[in-house]
Amino acid sequence: MYNYQQLNQFLKGKGGNKMNDIINCMKARRSVRKFMDQQIPDQDLEAILEAGRYAPSGGNNQSCHLIVLQNKSVLKELKELVELEFSKMEIDEGMYKSIKASILASKKGGYDFYYSAPTLVVVANQQDYGNALTDSACLLENMMLAATSLNIGSCWINQLRWLDGNKEIRTFLEKLGLGENETVCGGLALGLKAVKDQEPLKRTGNQITYVK
Ligand SMILES: Cc1cc2nc3c(=O)[nH]c(=O)nc-3n(C[C@H](O)[C@H](O)[C@H](O)COP(=O)(O)O)c2cc1C
Repeated sequence: MYNYQQLNQFLKGKGGNKMNDIINCMKARRSVRKFMDQQIPDQDLEAILEAGRYAPSGGNNQSCHLIVLQNKSVLKELKELVELEFSKMEIDEGMYKSIKASILASKKGGYDFYYSAPTLVVVANQQDYGNALTDSACLLENMMLAATSLNIGSCWINQLRWLDGNKEIRTFLEKLGLGENETVCGGLALGLKAVKDQEPLKRTGNQITYVK
């Protein structure tokens, strides 16, 4: 991490092409869905979490709560519970395609919602806070970019968000530290990549309208 003086130099343009490094990092980031068993180094984890905590938040609320899961048996239990709870769900017509896919995969068996990453960060926030999701998204993106810069694979994991209202999942997560008044906003799988780096996907959406 930069100290305050280095940051100031960087912002005044004296830090070489660091800003381009950040833009390049944004463009290089890809979702990684295959990980090595080996855990990521603690100092990398700390740098990623710190980058997340430096994300902006509405009214400087800083109310995100990061639950870092690295315990293998806890992760296995959670994986099995997620599969069980999805497998009990029925498909509705208007359902979001990825939720449908999770239900179908769970009914089939062997569903691994977090790709057996050695680290899963659950991002929660206050239930009654209007910026809960947006603040969490800023934090998650910061963590993904930090991970990319450290050559650590990452992937946003939304299943625990979708199961936020599920009693069994909530009970399990509350035992791990989720507050009763917190809502799960997202998750992040982190690990050493077990796949080759992929080219960025072409941007055909995310339209821009200029009014100059
Ligand atoms: C809000 C959000 C939720 C996502 N949820 C999941 C998820 O649950 N599982 C998954 O494998 N990828 C998930 N992704 C990753 C997207 O599928 C991915 O970003 C997209 O396909 C573009 O690929 P890229 O990240 O490699 O550029 C999610 C991304 C976002 C922003």
